[in-house]
Amino acid sequence: MHVQVGIIGAGPGGLMLARLLHLNGISCVVLESRARAYVETRVRAGLLEQGSVDLMTETGMDERMRREWMVHDGTEYIAGGERYRVDMWDLIKRRIYIYGQQEVVKDMIAVNLAAGVPIHFEAEAREIGCLDTQKPFIRYEKDGAEATLTCDYVAGCDGFHGISRRAIPDAIRKDYDRVYPFGWLGILADAPPTLPELIYCQNEERGFALFTMRSTKVSRCYLQVPPDEDEANWSDDRIWNELSLRLGKHEGIALSTGKITQKSVTAMRSFVSEPMRHGRLFIAGDAAHIVPPTGAKGMNLAISDVYVLSKALIDFYRNGSTACFDRYTETCLRRIWGAQHFSWWMTSMMHNMPGDNPFDRKRQIAELRTVLGSRAGRTLLAENYSGLPLEM
Ligand code: APR
Ligand code: PHB
Repeated sequence: MHVQVGIIGAGPGGLMLARLLHLNGISCVVLESRARAYVETRVRAGLLEQGSVDLMTETGMDERMRREWMVHDGTEYIAGGERYRVDMWDLIKRRIYIYGQQEVVKDMIAVNLAAGVPIHFEAEAREIGCLDTQKPFIRYEKDGAEATLTCDYVAGCDGFHGISRRAIPDAIRKDYDRVYPFGWLGILADAPPTLPELIYCQNEERGFALFTMRSTKVSRCYLQVPPDEDEANWSDDRIWNELSLRLGKHEGIALSTGKITQKSVTAMRSFVSEPMRHGRLFIAGDAAHIVPPTGAKGMNLAISDVYVLSKALIDFYRNGSTACFDRYTETCLRRIWGAQHFSWWMTSMMHNMPGDNPFDRKRQIAELRTVLGSRAGRTLLAENYSGLPLEM
């Protein structure tokens, strides 16, 4: 079988790309190694920037999202025992939108399939080749049999552990990496949110906690833990007790608790691989970069990468121009490094670094007070948190 674009991976990146190409008359196939039920229930972050929301809307994938999302004008912070609010709407007339990544993925799959875009689940790409010829191929396995897809271009949207990035030869690839000495224990609980808005909490003695949500009845909370922590060490009581201690006592805030329905530990890492193009292969999203979840940029970056890629492919198929292909890496990296900086900054401001001495701790609290206590500081935070432009 031959299509114009072969897409590896049915995460938010691959699925948004499929939709954008289909709407512009470009044929594609999506190959996904996992089952549909698996990708639709995989619990991840859940914060959409305005640019991502706009693209979901333009591509007609926003109907359920608009009914179910929670729209936030501001975000709460607790640092040095004091409470702050960053009012994004007041500062920069922007908002953020809470809607789980797996819900985004469900909506994207439903709309793509309804439009007739082929998504092959349990189809694992094993090899990509002939990238410097007119007819690259993707060899994949489905139902125990091998098959080959040929295409004009390959889009590697197969996440951090996929095969696409490794198809770019070591000799031309440069990886930038930082591994953090902590992880996040994330939980879902049948408990209304503690406050209507997210609370980012830096506790000088105990470390970071985040209180977020999925609906008016479901809380999502995170705790900084050692990177190799086993979630089995965390009973429900221990989790609620630790969340309560890190939150501290503040007028008008009462920790909301309930039955914990899911818990898992995620390691934290910053990673960028350059270039994002090799011959007729383009990589996008987690295949090319990872951010620590503190700024909630992962899904939004995958969406902005494929937006840039879709424009390049549309330009090529309409006008025969390859100029945008040549600029793909550079265009994406500008935004990616902006988001990398922000995610690292948020992470370093909010977490207790093992090995920090008392000076480091005091300096960290002073930094948070400087940023959160000034309108200029809050504006900088709000601009980055609510999302940089889709294309920079
Ligand atoms: N063949 C086919 N599919 C593959 C292969 C392969 N060899 N390897 C990986 N995949 C699939 C994975 O199963 C996954 O569904 O590629 C998909 C990649 O999706 P994501 O990991 O969601 O990556 P992306 O679309 O870039 O979205 C980034 O996801 O990991 C989160 O926090 C991250 O929010 C960010 C977002
Ligand atoms: C989430 O809702 O899961 C979430 C929100 C904000 C973050 C990280 C995760 O910074």
